[in-house]
Amino acid sequence: MTGFERIEGGELACDGVDLGGVGERFGTPLFVYSRRAIEEAWRAYESAFAGVPHRICYAVKANGNGAILRVLAALGAGADIVSGGEMLAALRAGFPPEHIVFAGVGKTNEELSLGLERGIGEFNAESEEEITRLGEAAVGRGVVARVSLRVNPDIDPQTHPYISTGLREAKFGVPIARAPEILRRSRGRPGIRIVGLQCHLGSQITDLAPLAAGARDLAGLSRRLLAEGFPLETIDLGGGLGVDYENGGGADPGTLARQILPEIEGLPLTLVLEPGRSLVAGAGVLLTRVLYVKANGDRRFVVVDAGMNDLLRPALYGAFHRVEPVRPRGRDLVEADVVGPVCETGDFLARGRRMERPEPGDLIAVRDTGAYGFAMSSRYNMRPRAAEVMVEEGAARLVRRRETFEDLIRTET
Ligand SMILES: Cc1ncc(COP(=O)(O)O)c(C=O)c1O
Repeated sequence: MTGFERIEGGELACDGVDLGGVGERFGTPLFVYSRRAIEEAWRAYESAFAGVPHRICYAVKANGNGAILRVLAALGAGADIVSGGEMLAALRAGFPPEHIVFAGVGKTNEELSLGLERGIGEFNAESEEEITRLGEAAVGRGVVARVSLRVNPDIDPQTHPYISTGLREAKFGVPIARAPEILRRSRGRPGIRIVGLQCHLGSQITDLAPLAAGARDLAGLSRRLLAEGFPLETIDLGGGLGVDYENGGGADPGTLARQILPEIEGLPLTLVLEPGRSLVAGAGVLLTRVLYVKANGDRRFVVVDAGMNDLLRPALYGAFHRVEPVRPRGRDLVEADVVGPVCETGDFLARGRRMERPEPGDLIAVRDTGAYGFAMSSRYNMRPRAAEVMVEEGAARLVRRRETFEDLIRTET
């Protein structure tokens, strides 16, 4: 049994460890991760792409907890980072620098220098100006920066507009039509070696046809550039594979492989992918305890101790997460909104859900919160951030302690 399943008596468990006990021991709100589920998701990617030269670079932004990073680094993953902080976390967890790709539209001079100093494998440059700055920094250090140009193919990934990144109007990358001239100019720059092309269309993509279209566009451009003598080594198609938040599961790297591999067939390049959500979303739950049950007019509210500061996705994107009782009691079903303690009407985890009538003290599991859960959490309303636990080898281990009031004011002067 891997991940989250119900054991005898109907209790929800993580790899056989009962979540009721975990919630009591570590308190709530609490993120709980299954090491085995992460390893399984990783293996699905590895076997789907085993037939071609490839590197799976985990998108650290999805969940940067060091325990998760160490699991993936030990399995042989690379890392996709977007900040100096993610770089240091990835290096600390043991990702080899040459297997790290550094993305982001707003890399600072300090971050570019840090990346050069640490020998980051590939800078996914998002503008010609960035390549210029990177070249200057590299010459200053007497090194050569390996650059992959992020191109924007203007493809609609059919996902939430906030996480659609490959449309013309988005801030990311350079228009694909302008890429050849930018690369020709950049090619001669001292300190720069152009090694590939990159694109990332967006996140939570469930219809994979846009990913195939992106692969086709990038492959076409790669062929032209190879013919011009560019020493390309990689083709990086980003992340984006979506998960099925309504039913669980859903992310299938095998289907992704069947969509994109025919498009890049024959290219003498290493395929780089940057999955985040599909590796860790299903491997996590957020445990939260019911504080109050109240009715305002004809609406029933279940007030829990986790809020939008712990899990922002519902408030930010209207995202759906399954909410389930950890220990079902066989009570009648009611319709309710599951809301947090934060002072915003947007502070909800679930709305209009049919669920077993909750009572104060019940533990609720918010499913598929391993990705963009803790990573997007904040201290809004001066709420200390939640603790995180990893279940491995049949036991739950604290991998981030709960913050205290002292943590909240530590950096004030
Ligand atoms: C450049 C880049 N790569 C990879 C990812 C990871 O995407 P996902 O978690 O959907 O796989 C993102 C997410 O926004 C991204 O911006």
